[in-house]
Amino acid sequence: MIEWLDFYNFLHFVGLAFGLGGATIMTIISMKAEKHKEVGAAMRYISAPIVKLIWVGLLFLIISGIALPFYITWPLDRNMLLIKHILVAFIVIIGIILGISSRKGLRKQMKFFSIINLILWYAVTLLSVFV
Ligand code: HEM
Repeated sequence: MIEWLDFYNFLHFVGLAFGLGGATIMTIISMKAEKHKEVGAAMRYISAPIVKLIWVGLLFLIISGIALPFYITWPLDRNMLLIKHILVAFIVIIGIILGISSRKGLRKQMKFFSIINLILWYAVTLLSVFV
């Protein structure tokens, strides 16, 4: 029998794979696009589904992240969790800014914010080990 704790834990891991994986791949492809024109031209077909994957990942993480403490029986470090929530909020806000700057074609701004967000993704993952 699958317990709710296992289900939300699984959802958290799937969200992690989608989000962290998507953000990493997106950075690699963007770097390639700067060097190779063909990749740059293909970006308008490649980026949309990856960006969607990242947002779906974030949604999974937030839903399961809110649910998890209701089922977890072991003690949680609430301070660490609070710091984590703040960093996740930044990922969401920067994600929205990235969407806007992408629509406006602000490339330098996009590059800056996507690096910040990638660092935040890894920081949240690292922090989660200590929650
Ligand atoms: C960028 C977003 C996030 C990432 C990368 C992330 C990553 C992780 C990882 C790697 C773990 C440890 C593995 C596990 O026990 O499942 C974890 C656990 C956890 N996360 Fe997240 N998470 C994110 C967002 C959230 C959010 C938004 C919340 C709450 C609203 C949350 C709450 C929790 C809780 C309660 C645990 C369980 C800690 C434990 O097992 O002792 N997470 N997270």
